[in-house]
Amino acid sequence: MKEKLEAIKAAALQELKESVIKTEIENIRVKYLGKKGELTQILRGMGQLSNEERPIVGKLANEVRGDIEILITKASDLIKNKESEQKLKSEVIDISMPGKKQTVGKRHPLDLTLEKINDIFLSMGFAIEEGPEVETDYYNFEALNIPKDHPARGEQDTFYINDSMVLRTQTSGIQIRTMEIQKPPIKMIAPGKVYRSDAADATHSPIFYQIEGLIVDKGITFADLKGTLELFTQKMFGDKIKTKFRPHHFPFTEPSAEMDATCFVCNGEGCKVCKGSGWIEILGCGMVHPKVLQNCGIDPEVYSGFAFGFGLDRITMLKYGIDDIRALYESDMRFLKQF
Ligand code: DAH
Repeated sequence: MKEKLEAIKAAALQELKESVIKTEIENIRVKYLGKKGELTQILRGMGQLSNEERPIVGKLANEVRGDIEILITKASDLIKNKESEQKLKSEVIDISMPGKKQTVGKRHPLDLTLEKINDIFLSMGFAIEEGPEVETDYYNFEALNIPKDHPARGEQDTFYINDSMVLRTQTSGIQIRTMEIQKPPIKMIAPGKVYRSDAADATHSPIFYQIEGLIVDKGITFADLKGTLELFTQKMFGDKIKTKFRPHHFPFTEPSAEMDATCFVCNGEGCKVCKGSGWIEILGCGMVHPKVLQNCGIDPEVYSGFAFGFGLDRITMLKYGIDDIRALYESDMRFLKQF
């Protein structure tokens, strides 16, 4: 019996030495120590032994069992170590490699310009209003004195959602929305995204930004318009800037004008930025058309006002010397990091 037990131990040891994966060890454990295992069989058969033999064989069998258990633990530890060693080898981490650079975002140049413009108008007592980008035909055109057959519709061709809804082509609709809700005196600007079905090129983008402005009160004249817009331009581009107003036409203002400013790069001498003319076109403006006031329930006999609108992209491009509007919408960090 003693030999048999020794043989079992030796066989288990041999098998453990040869095993290379966890499941093999588990099989060995079942084979020798499991319920139907070889050692268990011997222990079960102890009843047939003589009284003298029983304690000796029992002791020996338990020793062998303990030994096999220790051998199994050792063998499985060995395999575990080997496995983790192999894992470490296959997942070599080169700690000398440079880390991954975390790119921190920057303020967008449009945002920087808008912040400055907002600050200037806020300091002059204007409020900031907002309006929806998906706008009704009424607010975008009709109420601004642009009926269905008006040629100005063609100039501002847009994306129609359906017969009565458009992606707004201008922020001017916010004038109407504001006048419908607020009683004069009104003094507001309204920055926002606008849409036109223009093909993108260096100076056109189907999406761009405008800033609208409106003042309505008793006794507002063209002198107020000129003074306010000149002050804004000087705060934006510098004290020495001069402005001039050219007659123009907008359906929602009468009279209407476009305002130019002396080039802030060459001070009016003529350069690349102003294309040699010394002047830069800045914005459209005019006295609010009496029909527009009426459309909003404001009596044009009592109140008057002026309005203006300009492109944020254009001002940003002028200010930073950007010559292609598309650069503002391409999210290329090499471009954006410069501001
Ligand atoms: N909405 C005009 C445009 O998109 C800009 C404009 C011109 C706005 C004159 C005004 C204004 O408020 O008075 O071209």
